[in-house]
Amino acid sequence: SGHQEIARQAWAFSGFTGQFDRAQLQRGFQVYKEVCSNCHGLKRVAFRNLVQPGGPEFPEASVKALAAEWPNKITDGPNDEGKMFERPALLSDPILGPYKNDQEARAAQNGALPPDLSLITRARGIERNPPWYIHPFLMLGDIFKSYQEGGADYLYALLTGFSDPPASFHLVDGKFYNKAFAGHQISMPPPLSEGAVTYQDGTPSTVDNYARDVTAFLSWTADPSFDQRKRIGWQVILYLVVTTILLYVGKKRIWSAIK
Ligand code: HEM
Repeated sequence: SGHQEIARQAWAFSGFTGQFDRAQLQRGFQVYKEVCSNCHGLKRVAFRNLVQPGGPEFPEASVKALAAEWPNKITDGPNDEGKMFERPALLSDPILGPYKNDQEARAAQNGALPPDLSLITRARGIERNPPWYIHPFLMLGDIFKSYQEGGADYLYALLTGFSDPPASFHLVDGKFYNKAFAGHQISMPPPLSEGAVTYQDGTPSTVDNYARDVTAFLSWTADPSFDQRKRIGWQVILYLVVTTILLYVGKKRIWSAIK
């Protein structure tokens, strides 16, 4: 159905050798912080994850300051008087959205619930036919069945999919037309507009760039050890190739006397 309309995008992390682009992850976090965090949380990501290798790799001092200033405070306790209290976030705390709970979120959003975005590119990972060269391996199991970047392609399509509805379309009051969303009407107002975020690295302030960058960032939050895993995969292959060559040469030497 709707999934056929979602175009594949070329991501920095696509393909056999793809890796996250650190500058893009940094811009994507900026979009999350300045736009999406007004409604959505990122509670499976801790501030310190933004410092760790393989992600945006912001300097620790700036992330500490960011955590301390984050608008939604951390509920901690009980203290000596047995009371819960609120305190600013530390590096080890999760990145919370603006609402205390789902009820408060729905009350603020016309009854709709803005989902936590930590794992959204997996939660919306759409299944579709893998590339042709994967087909011979399908018998090996489910891991090849879903096309892993489907979630990123969907998120990008969603963020760039807002428009006026076609003339014949009946839009429910308070909803917005979006060609990528199932049913085509969503309670999220179009979040991105040109110029809304000012990048530090000179990347043009377009909706297209915001959508790509925040999608890359949310692909990282959903799979923070992706780069490391891919690097280890290559190291394993290299190790096996070298071992194969050594065994072959060794075998030749050992058996060369006996012909
Ligand atoms: C839903 C992403 C900004 C309010 C969603 C969904 C995603 C998303 C992926 C789920 C769509 C689905 O179910 O398939 C983002 C991103 C943002 C952003 C990446 C920043 C670029 C905002 C803002 C608001 C908001 C600023 C509030 C003004 C909502 C609401 C829903 C939603 C209410 C639920 C929609 C429904 O179920 O109909 N958003 N969002 N979002 N978002 Fe956002």
